Amino acid sequence: PARAIIVVAAGSGQRLGAERPKAFVALAGRSILEHCLDGVFGMHEATQVIVVAPAALVPEAEEIAFRAAGAARDYVSVVSGGATRQESVHAGLGLLLDSVQTVLVHDAARALATSDHLARVAEIVEQTGGGVVPGLAVADTIKSVDAGDTITGTVDRSALRAVQTPQGFPREQILAAYAAGGDDHTDDAALCAAHGFSSIVVAGDPLAFKITTPWDLQRAERLLAERAA
Ligand code: CTP
Ligand code: MG
Repeated sequence: PARAIIVVAAGSGQRLGAERPKAFVALAGRSILEHCLDGVFGMHEATQVIVVAPAALVPEAEEIAFRAAGAARDYVSVVSGGATRQESVHAGLGLLLDSVQTVLVHDAARALATSDHLARVAEIVEQTGGGVVPGLAVADTIKSVDAGDTITGTVDRSALRAVQTPQGFPREQILAAYAAGGDDHTDDAALCAAHGFSSIVVAGDPLAFKITTPWDLQRAERLLAERAA
């Protein structure tokens, strides 16, 4: 395959506060990871799929990933992650096949992201030859505050985007950025930017929201129930 997607699922899910690591928490009767893989395996282009899981849950993640892959299981692997998201992505990058030219990095916690949303990012990477990040306009008015919470200003919202995943990059750019490493960046585009590779923001999808808190999990449950009805 010329494309790969690294699905990072190795986080503990502190803010969700469930009994299990977040990607393995039930959402409408199946794990968050299984829902995420519905979108991944729904893409039409041949794609290498690399799932990054907590070390103790690699066998369970393999079972989930192979079941989701069906006949496409030749290009599926699971690897254990690290203490930070950046380390987990780095672990996943170690498994890239030589044929892969376009790399997507996707949060398992964005369980309802559609196949079209994932594929569009890859397509734009291939068209532009640069990094691509889906994002949404910011709806709320954003204030800056000082240490005492006194408002110091209103930030120009038109210049802001709330970004999602997958974030997509040409292979050599993301490999060079991760090989050089650096301070822990919260997303892949930030690490690439730190090494001189710029990215563009393209239209995101509200369905690609991240399940972070119990409220987000309820929202995902409701959306799936409406879809089934
Ligand atoms: N992730 C990972 N390895 C880590 C930390 C995070 O693979 N060491 C993954 C998570 O599994 C998740 C994605 O990165 O799919 C986005 O991270 P986040 O939503 O912050 O998940 P957690 O770190 O698990 O949650 P929290 O920050 O609330 O603990
Ligand atoms: Mg986290």
